[in-house]
Amino acid sequence: MLQGKRITLIVTGGIAAFKSCEAARLLMKSGAEVTAVLTEHAAEFVTPLTFEALTGRPALTTEWAKHPGGPMPHIDLARTSDLILVMPATANIIAKAAHGIADDLASTLLAARRSPVIFVPAMNEAMWKAPAAARNVEALRLDGAVFLGPVPGLQACGDKGPGRMMEPREVAEFIEGFFAPKVLAGRRVLITAGPTYEAIDPVRGITNRSSGRQGFALARAARDAGAEVTLVAGPVSLSAPVNVRRIDVVSAREMDAAVQEELDGGPCDLFIGVAAVADWRPGAVAERKLKKTVMGVPALADLIWVENPDVLTRVGTRPNPPVTIGFAAETAEGAVLTAFAREKCMRKHASFIVANDARRALNADTNEIRIVGPDSERVFGPATKLECAHFILECAAELLAKRPRQV
Ligand code: CTP
Repeated sequence: MLQGKRITLIVTGGIAAFKSCEAARLLMKSGAEVTAVLTEHAAEFVTPLTFEALTGRPALTTEWAKHPGGPMPHIDLARTSDLILVMPATANIIAKAAHGIADDLASTLLAARRSPVIFVPAMNEAMWKAPAAARNVEALRLDGAVFLGPVPGLQACGDKGPGRMMEPREVAEFIEGFFAPKVLAGRRVLITAGPTYEAIDPVRGITNRSSGRQGFALARAARDAGAEVTLVAGPVSLSAPVNVRRIDVVSAREMDAAVQEELDGGPCDLFIGVAAVADWRPGAVAERKLKKTVMGVPALADLIWVENPDVLTRVGTRPNPPVTIGFAAETAEGAVLTAFAREKCMRKHASFIVANDARRALNADTNEIRIVGPDSERVFGPATKLECAHFILECAAELLAKRPRQV
């Protein structure tokens, strides 16, 4: 995904510097060409040799050219970098970058930069909250810099609070999408994902099989395409992509309420219902665990089932609805799968339905999808769920381009 991209990784002096080694490795794995720049203090925590071994390129520590007349490292790197990643970013480098101070290779390069820059801060939580740091971060944001984290948690010094560096995997994942075409720039996207769980009693319930992976992949792809993304997630064991707002729900009614509240609260251009919503719930949730049998009669046999709201239909039938996309996970293929999807598309007032054969997609990394509209059909895959997500969003962007923007 990062094939041909030149990333300059500036490592500054914080204990989190050891994690930057992993970030360098992950970015290399994604195809990027990584050049490490270490400040004097960073080299106290990790050695240039570590980065040289990981990146296969010299790690730079000084702004002085090696040979008279040779390239000046800060200008050379500023010219050739597609992206500068500062990880970990200490309060010191953030302050220097905000004020244009240039007194070593890292800060001189930042002062001379021509490419986008991402800061991944790591510092004591009191330092992060200090008014000076907040002012410097704000100034850099206004200049177009991107900040990832810090995240709350236990810090190396023993304090707890926002100051921990974001994990390398999350940073690498964000950068993998950084150069994606921004086909959804300025768009607001709402996605449901995962299953819902309908309680029968405090220990039992019914649910659908869904890992949430396709919905989370869509959230990530929509973010990469430049959208502001909200993800309403049923019970799944996945972490949300960086910069995606997540709302956790359990039941279908909670999911429906969260979606309606979001749509009532502001404009939304695109809704994607990926969730495997339970169609039915017990009429009443027993306060205590039901016994298997009561006087020889199976207790669960008497349950009364009530239909859940159809989240997708309720979005598709709103006045001035967003572009509305549904999913149909069926145990069918070919023309039968298409017919099921088209019927759902009409019944649920969707713009199109993404249909697949659940037997192949469940718990798999890959998917094969059909995009079925009232009178259209496109087939895509087999491909990874992320590739499928990008294709679905391209189809959605085509529809969005024909509509006025929601305000
Ligand atoms: N869906 C929803 N709310 C429901 C049920 C389904 O929003 N209560 C959405 C799903 O998120 C999906 C689409 O509707 O986008 C199709 O889901 P599916 O379960 O296949 O539809 P059903 O109407 O339940 O059809 P079936 O009879 O095949 O179960």
